[in-house]
Amino acid sequence: MSTQGNIDSVLTEKRVFECSGAFRSTAHIQSMADYERLYQEAETDPEKFWGGIAAELHWFKPWDKVCEWNCPWAKWFSGGEINLSYNCLDRHVATWRRNKAALIWEGETGEVQTLTYQQLLLEVSKFANVLKSLGVNKGDRVAIYMGMCPALPIAMLACARIGALHTVIFGGFSAHALVDRITDSQACLVITQDGSFRRGAEVKLKPAVDEAVPSCPSVKNVIVFQRTGTPQTMFGGRDHWWHELMAHASDECPAEPLDSEHPLYLLYTSGTTGKPKGILHTTGGYSVGTYITAKWVFDLKDEDVFWCTADLGWVTGHSYVLYGPLQNGATSLMYEGAPNFPEPDRFWRVIERHKVNVFYTAPTAIRAFMRFGAEWPLKHAMKSLRLLGTVGEPINPEAWMWYRENIGRNRCPIVDTWWQTETGMIMIAPLPGATPLKPGSATRALPGVIADVVTREGEPVPPGGGGYLVVKQPWPAMLRTIYGDPQRYVEQYWSQIPGMYFTGDGARKDEDGYFWIMGRIDDVITVSGHRLSTMEVESALVAHPKVAEAAVVARLDDFRGQAIAAFVTLKSGNAPSEELKNELRAWVAKEIGSLAKPDDVRFSDELPKTRSGKITRRLLKEIAAGGEVKGDTTTLEDLSVIARLSAQEE
Ligand code: WT7
Repeated sequence: MSTQGNIDSVLTEKRVFECSGAFRSTAHIQSMADYERLYQEAETDPEKFWGGIAAELHWFKPWDKVCEWNCPWAKWFSGGEINLSYNCLDRHVATWRRNKAALIWEGETGEVQTLTYQQLLLEVSKFANVLKSLGVNKGDRVAIYMGMCPALPIAMLACARIGALHTVIFGGFSAHALVDRITDSQACLVITQDGSFRRGAEVKLKPAVDEAVPSCPSVKNVIVFQRTGTPQTMFGGRDHWWHELMAHASDECPAEPLDSEHPLYLLYTSGTTGKPKGILHTTGGYSVGTYITAKWVFDLKDEDVFWCTADLGWVTGHSYVLYGPLQNGATSLMYEGAPNFPEPDRFWRVIERHKVNVFYTAPTAIRAFMRFGAEWPLKHAMKSLRLLGTVGEPINPEAWMWYRENIGRNRCPIVDTWWQTETGMIMIAPLPGATPLKPGSATRALPGVIADVVTREGEPVPPGGGGYLVVKQPWPAMLRTIYGDPQRYVEQYWSQIPGMYFTGDGARKDEDGYFWIMGRIDDVITVSGHRLSTMEVESALVAHPKVAEAAVVARLDDFRGQAIAAFVTLKSGNAPSEELKNELRAWVAKEIGSLAKPDDVRFSDELPKTRSGKITRRLLKEIAAGGEVKGDTTTLEDLSVIARLSAQEE
């Protein structure tokens, strides 16, 4: 175990997987030598590097300067004029891609809808005219509260086309969360739908809008898309049916040339305080960053069907369901519903039905599939798959190996992509035709991304030591501010370690320069003066044959500062017992060392998770401490779990 740096690192994974010759021979980037060359070029002359990539997109007016950096304020491609909707649509409609599928949508009920680039451009243009007709202007904020259906990307692209900022609010949030976000953004219009299907039932959306909007005086109009057909109360003068407005709209609406720094969208993310932060992304830099990372990391080819399973309510959906793939002229698949409806093999059925080539999902989903059992994916050949990806949290090596063997059939590289709502684009990830893979590592920083692991004082930590993950140079898709709160932007991201972007994550770099993300800094546990990553203890637990999923948090301990509390779900066929508790404690002691041995082990049916699938450690900490659950719980999937766990007090 290394004790250099600030955070002790105990996880050592020795397996390395080289890319197959077959994959490499057709990849956009085919060797580590090419990667190193690109990385060097970007580091030596970032203006030339990013300028070269930006030139692959359409600009109404060229930029004067690639990057103006006045830490922490950035302007990318200043003086340039661009439109993201133009680069996603018009640019391809002028080529052979005109009749290529841009979006393929599958509803949970099984129906399929395909929109070619040309058809999508018509719908987006019509809806842009609808927005204009309701008085939406360049710079206005539009809140979108929908499920996964084609109207959602149409609405987003229509906003981008006229220079209105969209703020997509995940359809699983409550009316209360809607009020907070609409109030903070002062949105003038809400776009919603009657409901969406999930796990065979209707998720009602319009009723939440009806509950929220009376507390939101900024909202003048509500547009309602019809998906389920459930009758709605329409409020005269305020509510309009999508299909009625679209029936009369012209399908011509030229994309508005926008200043490169024109705001593109707001996306709310939770911070350490209860108040959500409106992360602001702007047009030119975000376009360039998502365009090139989608191409490189997912190795997108014109023949590919790309499926990113994220909801468009999250940044992953913004960057890699919609804007990244469409700028590349790719075919992007969207699925409306639950992964296990009607049976646990729905995702594998979707892959077979649409011959998906590149599949991008979250570790939490992969662990759920592990729990359902390998027999479900093994029913399907899934021969079309050539590349797999993960995002959202550290993936433990066991899950990585399961994904590789049972989904990729040992044939597909896995890209573990590290990034954040704030970074807008993937920052650390393998280039699948080049980078040798190590299970559990997001590998190296992408060319143009200067990331490092440093001490609290900003000093680089030598290889093997843990520390704070930072980014030392601006990048095009970086957030520009927190909407309405520039001071919080400066404090949260640029003042913790002055002059560097503070990610809030702990990490270590190994001798090969590979990054091993250890999770959020506030998930780090200090035991007897040694700081341990919760993720590393979790990985050890999950490696036990009876454990499905584990979450580890700290609780105060008079003796050692902090003690480790582990919450564990078991694979089916295993029952909780005192014996098993002791077995698991001994197991971790053996895997990592007695320092990391959990003091408490609690079993549960499920772990409490945010809507995006992240384990809610904050709540588990309160349970571990024996306290009551306080704070913002709007992001919880199932509160009853907390009650069940709390009820297990010994
Ligand atoms: C946080 C950002 C950006 C996509 C979805 C999450 C964690 C994300 C990884 C990864 C380890 C990861 C980090 C990061 N994270 N990807 N590949 N390996 N950790 O966006 O909600 O803004 O969360 O997710 O802790 O800081 P987000």
